[in-house]
Amino acid sequence: MGSLKLTGIRKSFGAVDVLKGIDLEVADGEFVIFVGPSGCGKSTLLRIIAGLEDASDGRVEIDGRDVSAVPPAKRGIAMVFQTYALYPHLTVRDNMALGLKQAGAAKDTIASQIEMASAMLSLEEYLQRRPAELSGGQRQRVAIGRAIVRDPELFLFDEPLSNLDAALRVNTRLEIARLHREIRSTMVYVTHDQVEAMTLADRIVVLNGGIIEQVGSPMELYNKPANRFVAGFIGSPQMNFLEAERAGEPGCASVGVRPEHFSVSRDGGRWSGEAVHVEHLGADTILYLDSKEVGTLTARLFGEHAFTAGDTLHVTPLEGQLYRFDADGRTLF
Ligand SMILES: Nc1ncnc2c1ncn2[C@@H]1O[C@H](COP(=O)(O)OP(=O)(O)O)[C@@H](O)[C@H]1O
Ligand SMILES: [Mg+2]
Repeated sequence: MGSLKLTGIRKSFGAVDVLKGIDLEVADGEFVIFVGPSGCGKSTLLRIIAGLEDASDGRVEIDGRDVSAVPPAKRGIAMVFQTYALYPHLTVRDNMALGLKQAGAAKDTIASQIEMASAMLSLEEYLQRRPAELSGGQRQRVAIGRAIVRDPELFLFDEPLSNLDAALRVNTRLEIARLHREIRSTMVYVTHDQVEAMTLADRIVVLNGGIIEQVGSPMELYNKPANRFVAGFIGSPQMNFLEAERAGEPGCASVGVRPEHFSVSRDGGRWSGEAVHVEHLGADTILYLDSKEVGTLTARLFGEHAFTAGDTLHVTPLEGQLYRFDADGRTLF
């Protein structure tokens, strides 16, 4: 069991308020991701859950128990960091065993836990190696293995894939998804990468400037962003934002259209523009348009299209795919 409840969490460093009142409940077995721009307080919040940092105010409960005064080692959690923090002089086996040994686990238990974790993470062949003899992806798997063997109620991950190259990032992402399916532990995971958040999370918590902008499933955030910040943060390329008056849309301050929600034509449409740049990606074609009416626009089309820079094109938002925002940036539904 590893439910988590945060109530009124605040954190200030000197005069700087980093977290401004965070309320959140995470159910047992849930995979929740904190996403947001650099410096918005994600790591600070995770460290407060872990007990590595004290909140200035508020309460952390794990399984209904107030752990505010409980030291990190006694919270039933395991944390995986961006830097793997492995002991260089210890083998993979000994790195994984260390936490259990320190907790006084029996030899048999340690051996069977390492067997289980190394099988799950395909590390059996590497147990006698030292970290320096492993690739970055393997090192991160060892760091995850070290967390698994302790059989925690709650896993905390802080940007665990940031130091991996693109291909390894995708692989390790798939492994973490599979791991969660298999062990069903509660996972709280921090990233600044919205693709990672979209692909792994049951629910995403969008943080910005020390507050929660929105909590929801990936598709809720994509389809019903509460405000312009969330609308712009989720989705790639980013949503287009147009001034309502220039776009000819009454009763709101601005409108938003996702690049994948335009139809594009040479003949006519709602807004016209000149293609200033075209990216042919094979699976997709990305058009960057400069429109006299509404400014710059990005459109993403499925498949290959013979458009080139200099073309005059017309774009129309797909039916029901135009978002409207008020002057404070809140979505008008
Ligand atoms: N120990 C600290 N002392 C002072 N300021 C800190 C400390 N830790 C974090 N901060 C500040 O708090 C803010 C949030 O940091 P952090 O939680 O690391 O953001 P994120 O993980 O979202 O990038 C940043 O402005 C950072 O400089
Ligand atoms: Mg961070």
